[in-house]
Amino acid sequence: MKILIKSSLNLTLKTDCLVVAIKPAKKLGTQQGELNSATGGLINRLQDGDQFSADKSEIIAAPAPEGIGAKRLLLLGVGADKKLDAESIKDVTSKLAKHLSGTGIRDVTFELNALIAKSDVETVVRHLVESIGDTEYKYIMQPKSARGAKASKEIKLTISCADRAQANAAKKAASVGQAISNGKTLAKDLGNMPGNVCTPTYLANQAKKMAKSHGLKVKILNEKEMGELGMGSLLSVSKGSREPAKLIVMEYKGAKNKKEAPHALVGKGLTFDAGGISLKPSPKMDEMKYDMCGAASVFGAILAAAELELPINVVAVVPSSENLPDGIANKPGDVVTSMSGQTIEILNTDAEGRLILCDALTYTERFKPQSVIDIATLTGAVIVALGHQTAGVMGNDQELVDDILSAGETSLDHAWQLPIKETYKKQLKSDFADLANIGGPSAGTITAACFLSYFTEKFRWAHLDIAGTAWGGSAGKLASGRAVPILTQYLMDRC
Ligand code: BES
Ligand code: MN
Ligand code: ZN
Repeated sequence: MKILIKSSLNLTLKTDCLVVAIKPAKKLGTQQGELNSATGGLINRLQDGDQFSADKSEIIAAPAPEGIGAKRLLLLGVGADKKLDAESIKDVTSKLAKHLSGTGIRDVTFELNALIAKSDVETVVRHLVESIGDTEYKYIMQPKSARGAKASKEIKLTISCADRAQANAAKKAASVGQAISNGKTLAKDLGNMPGNVCTPTYLANQAKKMAKSHGLKVKILNEKEMGELGMGSLLSVSKGSREPAKLIVMEYKGAKNKKEAPHALVGKGLTFDAGGISLKPSPKMDEMKYDMCGAASVFGAILAAAELELPINVVAVVPSSENLPDGIANKPGDVVTSMSGQTIEILNTDAEGRLILCDALTYTERFKPQSVIDIATLTGAVIVALGHQTAGVMGNDQELVDDILSAGETSLDHAWQLPIKETYKKQLKSDFADLANIGGPSAGTITAACFLSYFTEKFRWAHLDIAGTAWGGSAGKLASGRAVPILTQYLMDRC
């Protein structure tokens, strides 16, 4: 998408489509007044008539009259509320984005007029850009037949503002929207790729590419190096697979002080999870190619942070492996020793995410991070609890959890807190090791987080379970690009 910001409305500007936001109120802003006169009172007539009531997300197309540079007008209802809540704004922008792709309009000018409250400008622009990014997303490896016939041209979006101040706000918001959108696109592409393409080695190569394109520092640890560090838990999972496991470390240093403590993002990178010897049932097993969406979110968020040149340091740690049944795969009852020294009895080989994350979390200690967030498609139970709308968040530091919840509200990539309490930790007792890797049938999302909490005592930590939100929601079978927005917002809020 190409974005241009103008600081005033020029009615003779050549554009395929001029979008004007309209409220049901009769009084028009100055620019709309001009447009209204230029169109012989068209807007007033539409407002008066029963064809268009300017309700939220209502869209009406009209041919543009002579003397106006636009080929057509698109009137976009934004409802009567003085200040719009972000959720309604997102509704309006995604409706508009769908209209543009449905009609094939590629060159569009959005008039940000006085009817949009000053405080709403940033939200509108950011979500407009993000909505267009979502609607226009095409999976790079999808066959032509599934993509629809017309290979669509890139959208050119011009945002015409009321004045210079509005233009500055719009410019900032557009770059945020664009960076998040680019991060989401990367996360979606990685997620949508099949397990035979997107392997741990593929993810490692992706990191190397980003080192070159975005100046990140990248280090890839192979199995031998992980063995030397004592990552017995992580390596027990990859033992059953022929694809070598990788521990991918990416560093973005945007802070003035390169030694400033970083924020750490740790992403579960199971490029395929068959369950191992505790084999999953066949229906929907294909969806377990998405078990690296935590990793994909981390790739997307660090890309967005680099594009926005955020003045902070970020370190990404991605443990990546497959989980397959094999003659030497983990067996129920096996006991392994994690890098932390704690021993783990593997009662279910399908609870593998926590087995690779725990060693990655211990490894993260060496960066002395300000905060650590792990992101993982960790439990089916979170889908039962929160559906495909909301991610589960838990942690050992309420302030950090609150920061994440607030980032979810701003970015509209929502999360909801579940409790980590001592009483749940009892469920992880093992007769044969320090910890069991499962906590029984109840509170599965919480006991998974409790397990991780034994490996995060040295820092402020929170865990995001995105098993419900990373795919399968409004994005259908495709990956959604979540949690890129909430993570990027969290990082932006630290600046
Ligand atoms: N990757 C799965 C979690 C998952 C399941 C995500 C379904 C999305 C949809 C994870 O590795 C897993 O298998 N978890 C088990 C844990 C159980 C064995 C304690 C689960 O949720 O069933
Ligand atoms: Mn599993
Ligand atoms: Zn898994």
